Amino acid sequence: MCGIVGYIGKQEAVPILIDGLKKLEYRGYDSAGIAVLTEQGIEVCKSLGRLSVLEKKIEGQFSNIRIGVGHTRWATHGRPSDVNAHPHGDCSGNFVVVHNGIIENYLELKEWLTEQGHHILSETDTEVLPHLVEHFYQGNLEEAVRQVVEKVRGAFAMVVLSHHHPDKLVAVRKDSPLIIGLGEGEFFVASDIPAILKYTRKTYILDDGEMAILETDAVTLTDFQGKPLTKEVYEVKWDVEAAEKGGYEHFMLKEIFEQPRALRDTLMGRLEQDQVVLQEVDLTAEEVAHYQRVVIVACGTAYHAGLVGKTLIERWVRIPVEVDIASEFRYRSPLIDPHTLLIVISQSGETADTLAALREGKRRGARVVAVTNVVGSTIAREAHDVFYTWAGLEIAVASTKAYITQLTGMVVLALFLAEAKQTLPTAKIKEIVTALRQLPAQAQEILDQAGIVKKLAGKFSGAEDAFFIGRGLDWAVAMEGALKLKEISYIHAEAYAAGELKHGTLALITEQTPVIALVTQHEVYEKTVSNIKEVKARDAQVIGMTYYGDKELAKVVDHVLYLPVTLSELAPILAVIPLQLLSYYVSVARGCDVDKPRNLAKSVTVE
Ligand code: AGP
Repeated sequence: MCGIVGYIGKQEAVPILIDGLKKLEYRGYDSAGIAVLTEQGIEVCKSLGRLSVLEKKIEGQFSNIRIGVGHTRWATHGRPSDVNAHPHGDCSGNFVVVHNGIIENYLELKEWLTEQGHHILSETDTEVLPHLVEHFYQGNLEEAVRQVVEKVRGAFAMVVLSHHHPDKLVAVRKDSPLIIGLGEGEFFVASDIPAILKYTRKTYILDDGEMAILETDAVTLTDFQGKPLTKEVYEVKWDVEAAEKGGYEHFMLKEIFEQPRALRDTLMGRLEQDQVVLQEVDLTAEEVAHYQRVVIVACGTAYHAGLVGKTLIERWVRIPVEVDIASEFRYRSPLIDPHTLLIVISQSGETADTLAALREGKRRGARVVAVTNVVGSTIAREAHDVFYTWAGLEIAVASTKAYITQLTGMVVLALFLAEAKQTLPTAKIKEIVTALRQLPAQAQEILDQAGIVKKLAGKFSGAEDAFFIGRGLDWAVAMEGALKLKEISYIHAEAYAAGELKHGTLALITEQTPVIALVTQHEVYEKTVSNIKEVKARDAQVIGMTYYGDKELAKVVDHVLYLPVTLSELAPILAVIPLQLLSYYVSVARGCDVDKPRNLAKSVTVE
């Protein structure tokens, strides 16, 4: 997720661009840049680091500027650096682009452009865009951009500035947000409302497949084929602070609701026909055969994702998998050797314990694959291979969209290993890939029913204790559900293997004790129902979770949360969403600080 801003009008453009980028830094801040039009032509200034670094760099420059674009980056392709920072230009210096999204077919486009004689300087996917504009430009900027959007696959919110058209910005939107601000004799374009709220509350919210041509006296809207469009003006009612949360009360809720997009982005470019494609893991089938066991190491929520990874890899790849908490792993003189594939999972890519585990594993000869959400993070840089989760910047301390994309990473990595070792029939791989493709829409279906969870949360917000139970993958998700509730509502919550309750913990179940029972794993459905009956016999208040169409569970629990039907191996990706919502609404009902819970930090970079 990056932040884009553009301006054309009668005011000084640079302060407006910088101010807009400041309001968008919550979308990413590993580098920033602006491009403006001066008498000499397009001037680009960009730098690694926070926006403040760029501000220092441009201090005292650029006056009497009336048009420009700016960008604050959340790196996806190409680590944070000056050269990878946006804006990106073409060979001639006549076109610059700022972009938010992922160009799925950028490698083939990069190859084709290079064959055409273009010089691509950066590692980014974005840089193919200005070179494509240059390639197609024949005097009409919007026409050239229309041909570009025909060529690229993936998600893009893009704004183009050209030296040939000093009074024009061309903006297009597909699968990444973009809004147009309508001022008096001035116009704005931005990834999000906060960037322009200081100047105007009148906006057009672009939809997918739409183009906006901003000129000094008008904004023209068309579709990608050039057909004129008209749009209602959307009057923004939010204040700036609320706007950064996209109108949600907390970043956590915003990030929960971003999960369908996060899933879509994480799967983008990794599912070809009926198999997975992992360009970023440089392991041939022969090399994969060399690894006889997998060790997964992580902390907290990332560790819970690793538990799911264990089940999937053992089930599909038939090699032993150990999952370890990083702070334990590094001190147990772990049995790691060159036949071990070590997977480290870390949203921030900076967790000290996980980083130390990575280094310990490398020291003992393991091949290390990192699953992380931050491009260029220390863990990303020190691993042999990196699977990036494209969740975008996650601000709330309680991890939600990063976790769900880590689970997706576990599925994709397990499939990748199974394909290399040929341990899964093609039909099964095809079934899993088909089910993966449905997840973003199914996640949205669950979010559309958030009100059901909100109502239930009211019944539990007074609880002192809560238990999450399940078997197999449901147990792993139960752990994540318990952690979410603990860390943001301060209720003591425990996850238990449903079959284990009777060996002691059942003694804690009393009248009205909240128990959340996950029942998504068909092979242990009856067993889990028996465990539910055990707690019901002690008058617990039980919320059950199963699939739409299940008529039985409602007979044995007090409330049921239904999920869209998916493969039981993929159920964790959907089952966690109601648990995230439950913990969120309970936390709000208890008046807790949802985004910044007491005693916690977003990234624990100390032991
Ligand atoms: C997530 O809700 C927690 N805040 C925490 O457990 C987190 O998952 C853990 O600290 C690991 O962080 P990482 O993924 O950045 O390594």
